[in-house]
Amino acid sequence: MKLAKKMAQLPEQFFAKLSTNVANAIAEGRDVINLGQGNPDRPTPVHIVQAMQQATADAATHKYSPFRGTTEIREAIATFYKREYDVEIDPNKEVAVLFGSKAGLVELPMVLLDEGDTMLLPDPGYPDYLSGVTLANIQFEKMPLLANNAFLPDYTALTNAQKDAAKLMYINYPNNPTGAVATADFFEETVQFAKENDIAVMHDFAYSSLGFDGVKPLSFLQTEGAKDVGVEFYTLSKTYNMAGWRVGFAVGNADIVEGLNLLQDHLFCSLFPAIQHAAAVALTSSQDCVVEQLQVYENRRNALKDAAERIGWKIDVPKGSFFAWLPVPEKLTSAEFAKILLDEANVAVADGKGFGEHGEGYVRVGLLVEEARIYEAMERIASLHLFD
Ligand SMILES: Cc1ncc(COP(=O)(O)O)c(C=O)c1O
Repeated sequence: MKLAKKMAQLPEQFFAKLSTNVANAIAEGRDVINLGQGNPDRPTPVHIVQAMQQATADAATHKYSPFRGTTEIREAIATFYKREYDVEIDPNKEVAVLFGSKAGLVELPMVLLDEGDTMLLPDPGYPDYLSGVTLANIQFEKMPLLANNAFLPDYTALTNAQKDAAKLMYINYPNNPTGAVATADFFEETVQFAKENDIAVMHDFAYSSLGFDGVKPLSFLQTEGAKDVGVEFYTLSKTYNMAGWRVGFAVGNADIVEGLNLLQDHLFCSLFPAIQHAAAVALTSSQDCVVEQLQVYENRRNALKDAAERIGWKIDVPKGSFFAWLPVPEKLTSAEFAKILLDEANVAVADGKGFGEHGEGYVRVGLLVEEARIYEAMERIASLHLFD
């Protein structure tokens, strides 16, 4: 069967390839410590699972959902943003319920851009941003995220041609893969840059709940004027370990939200109502599970720092997210280093180049295994003497 040309243009799904390599190694009977993935390892908190179980037994949830999500979830989202960020959200006009934020990331270029238009993407960045580029038949320009600018894009480094062409930009803090967090100044600069250049902004807030050392990550919508230019995408995947449930949402600019909702009216009938109910419970009930979860990741981050220091690997620890962005020994490329770790130490890490050309020189390590396994991974790596 001949598929449409667009199918051939879709980029290789980076994470699919990564998990296949790890799965093959495990199938050979090897004890792989998987630091390459971004899949939360802990279960969804019990009270959310119970809310789901009860809702599933209620026949009212077996029907089609309202197209734009239930009133309950839209109101819960507004309550959540007011409580967590002191941001007012109109549940009827400023919320789009998403099948996980990934769906929204891929939809948004189709909503805002015409074929051939241009958007700005961070490099390194979350690989699935590229799927939206291909499916919408648009172009993209890179915004390098470099260590010397705290892994924030430097808007002054963009050319006039890039700024004139761009109609949409994606930013993401706490950042995957670098673990950087955004400052209020940076968000203010972003709003100004967007207004001056007429560029819509999507802030991907996937790691919203994961700010270390007592610093709570800022919502982009806390910035004055943010709603004039953009939206924020939120996912329950990481905050509540609900990655398999596929539930997220967009909040912010009413025109962009309307566009997303309109597109989704044609693609879906929203999520299983029981999932929407469980998500509303997650957002509005006690957040103790979120606090406890943050402590788990912070302990793992501290273990990574300690273990890396012991083996002479000089690293900067992340300020947020559950990823660390670690420099590769100078004599090796990121891909070579990642391959050696998997082949010779049974430790899987993500090759930094998979996140873009500016990821060269780094690997991404996920804090998604127990502390003891982090120490063990570092000891295995030490036995390769790559840092001597
Ligand atoms: C930066 C970033 N954005 C979005 C997502 C997608 O999250 P989901 O589709 O589960 O909401 C991820 C998942 O790993 C991510 O790392």
